[in-house]
Amino acid sequence: MGSQVAPALGRDVEGAAPSVIIKTEDLWKTYDMGAIQVNALCGVSFQIERGEYVAIMGPSGSGKSTLMNLIGCLDTPTRGEYWLNGRRVSELTDDELAYIRNKEIGFVFQTFNLLSRATALHNVELPLIYNGTPAAERRARAEEALRTVELGDRMEHKPNELSGGQRQRVAIARALVNRPSIILADEPTGNLDTATGDEIMALFDRLNASGNTIVLVTHEHDIAARARRIIHIRDGKVARDEKTGR
Ligand SMILES: Nc1ncnc2c1ncn2[C@@H]1O[C@H](COP(=O)(O)OP(=O)(O)O)[C@@H](O)[C@H]1O
Ligand SMILES: [Mg+2]
Repeated sequence: MGSQVAPALGRDVEGAAPSVIIKTEDLWKTYDMGAIQVNALCGVSFQIERGEYVAIMGPSGSGKSTLMNLIGCLDTPTRGEYWLNGRRVSELTDDELAYIRNKEIGFVFQTFNLLSRATALHNVELPLIYNGTPAAERRARAEEALRTVELGDRMEHKPNELSGGQRQRVAIARALVNRPSIILADEPTGNLDTATGDEIMALFDRLNASGNTIVLVTHEHDIAARARRIIHIRDGKVARDEKTGR
């Protein structure tokens, strides 16, 4: 991991009001496949405020993961602008981007993405190792995050000694451990049975109720309906943006 350089504060705040965490403006992403070009996103604009719980829903291939990768600063748009916490992402240096990915964003993936040889505790400590947190504090914070996801009694288990739902909870603890501005989850229940998926969704409800901003990608309506707002994506465009009344 690159060195951790805190982005300068008070810079580049023209993009949005302070309560807006995410603002996208006319985001395009075109994958150049040589003979053909795939327009995965075709002008996506929206804002997400601090404390929101938003589902991005759409059929397979509609551009959800592409959008998630842009929001998570894992990829760059072909065209358009993106502000994260008031900072224009296209103007950040590689070190600033590395810092933001580590500190400001907690990622949760469908396939958990845990280190198979490492204990739950060590998996959760990893983001803190990358940013140089001292060992004692690292351990205390990883333990706290594991207790938050109700895995206080599984800290020394490795992924293959845990159920699917427990593995995903380890991944969620890892996403939480840096107290990020936003949690991004791409099909987090996609590899889980319905009952286990419901437990994970109950955990997201609880995390949002305690102040975490959550953006969750899904192709399932039942999952999306747990959020307070659904942004429907179709063919790389926002088809509808609705409040769910939750
Ligand atoms: N790395 C890539 N290279 C080329 N095409 C891609 C790439 N990633 C995604 N696509 C294409 O972009 C479109 C949107 O994909 P994706 O964002 O993964 O959709 P979703 O997550 O909604 O299923 C699809 O047509 C997909 O085939
Ligand atoms: Mg996807």
